[in-house]
Amino acid sequence: CGIVGYIGKRDVAPLLLEGLQRLEYRGYDSAGLAIQGKPAKGVQSAGLKTAKAKGRVRDLEAKLPKRFAGTTGIAHTRWATHGAPNDVNAHPHLDAEGKVAVVHNGIIDNAADLRAKLAADGVELASDTDSEALAHLIGRSQAPTLEEKVRHALAMVEGTYGIAVLHADFPDRIVVARNGSPVVLGIGEKEMFVASDVAALVSHTRQVVTLDDGEMATLKADDYRTYTTEGSRTSTSPTTVEWEAESYDMGGHDTYMHKEIHEQVDAVDRVLRGRIDDRFSTVHLGGLNLDARAARGVRRVKILGCGSAYHTGLIGAQLIEELARIPADAEPASEFRYRNPVVDPDTLYIAVSQSGETYDTLAAVQELKRKGARVLGVVNVVGSAIARETDGGVYVHAGPEVCVVSTKCFTNTAVAFALLALHLGRIRDLSVADGKRIIAGLRKLPEQIAEVLRGEEEIKALAAEYANAKSMMFVGRVRGYPVAREASLKLKEVSYVHAEAYPASELKHGPLALIEPEVPTVAVLPDDDLLEKNRATLEEIKARSGRILAVAHRKQEKADHTIVVPRNEVELDPILMGIPLQLLAYHTALALGRDIDKPRNLAKSVTVE
Ligand code: G6P
Repeated sequence: CGIVGYIGKRDVAPLLLEGLQRLEYRGYDSAGLAIQGKPAKGVQSAGLKTAKAKGRVRDLEAKLPKRFAGTTGIAHTRWATHGAPNDVNAHPHLDAEGKVAVVHNGIIDNAADLRAKLAADGVELASDTDSEALAHLIGRSQAPTLEEKVRHALAMVEGTYGIAVLHADFPDRIVVARNGSPVVLGIGEKEMFVASDVAALVSHTRQVVTLDDGEMATLKADDYRTYTTEGSRTSTSPTTVEWEAESYDMGGHDTYMHKEIHEQVDAVDRVLRGRIDDRFSTVHLGGLNLDARAARGVRRVKILGCGSAYHTGLIGAQLIEELARIPADAEPASEFRYRNPVVDPDTLYIAVSQSGETYDTLAAVQELKRKGARVLGVVNVVGSAIARETDGGVYVHAGPEVCVVSTKCFTNTAVAFALLALHLGRIRDLSVADGKRIIAGLRKLPEQIAEVLRGEEEIKALAAEYANAKSMMFVGRVRGYPVAREASLKLKEVSYVHAEAYPASELKHGPLALIEPEVPTVAVLPDDDLLEKNRATLEEIKARSGRILAVAHRKQEKADHTIVVPRNEVELDPILMGIPLQLLAYHTALALGRDIDKPRNLAKSVTVE
């Protein structure tokens, strides 16, 4: 979900709509806004005006009344958790008198209790949402100031929130609060912004203040102050966002996904820049905060993330095992946090996240910290919650990723893991020669990615050929397997074609039963010591009249088609082999007419459980 708010002198509705558009990738099943109406002369307040619509921001825009003037307002784009996506459940939510408007990200765990109590007190609840309760609690508080009313309401709430509140009786301010869902203030000249994501702010200001959990803020047109939910002032000074407004634009491409796939050449260059140390055949990672002694004491590595981030973790674990010879594995953060894991002081935990806000990953980090573990972050968004809660880490420097499905951030994260693995390897037992070899391989990546991308037309033609598959099987062995996992996820997410990923070796233990001409297989076949074994798998598939699309370093006779990718060092092969499969997913989705940047039912970052 996304929140945006503004207080200042400008006409607020167009500003809010523009902000919502920038945030749509965070959730897009309904949207709404509330503004302080323009008061007539001599009147303190004209009351609140609201508009909501099921669907996209453009549906809201179409529904907006002609006269919707005001200079203070809040808005929201939603990804449904409680209650179906419809007009009524869209935010902002109002209290019974229509004086309070609230937009909320997160989940209120005791919403059922709160709603029941409100109903028992005679309050008629308009929606099915957890968020509406907040508006009523604020509206019913007898406290004299808006800040205290909000504080009273939050004291009754269990769960996570990022909220922004308007009150008709306090038209000179917006009150915001954060607990578990991001809230960023944008500091302007005689105007203030608030949003759940800097994406909505950067075209107006790059001076931002990120709230901590348990922090609130009051925004007035020419001033802001921050304080804790208990009311004591906190000191915050604005920082400058490094991403520029232009990097959020589509830059001549038809979709963000296409743009972001093509940005990988530059993005990979960026993650390497300034980090390679040729003298000692290693890399410098300035933010790691793990000295050589501590690094040598690491006995295991455990990587945690969700979705594509988890898949980069699978690649990362292999790189760390291969280059640093430390036992390593990856697990979905969403599973890890629920199973009371054994937390071990000699294990290095690594949380991976593009947004740095994914709630499941953040919760895993918090649980690990509570148990005294050392946790590093491999994160894209600088200053995000996971970046701040971890002891140190590696920034991925992919730049803003707007398309819901991850491409450039996936690749950059895999490269960041290669850097980390090389660093750990070189202070343990990786030789100078191997260090040199990996560095040379890393340096080759941007040009090799460009080479893969030059093959786009061929992949587009293949996508057209496979787009009508009933289902697709993705297989790979060891280094090829995480690539198959990610490629299968990518295809599902963006094209809605059912896909399954399996270790090639496991195919014969069950899924081979699915193979038929309508269920083609994409086989990831690096030219490593497992190529012969993989060829045997292709034979098994062919014998069941399955079609095969291979991604390999040379043409595969058994396959119907081969996408040939350039050879790098075996350890780095997975990074390159994933890229043609991003294009395959993209062109399949395009051929099927899908909404590429905003696939149905998904959101870019899931900041709820
Ligand atoms: C969501 C997105 C996925 C993404 C995952 C993790 O589920 O739909 O595409 O991989 O979150 O996001 P993160 O920001 O933590 O990398």
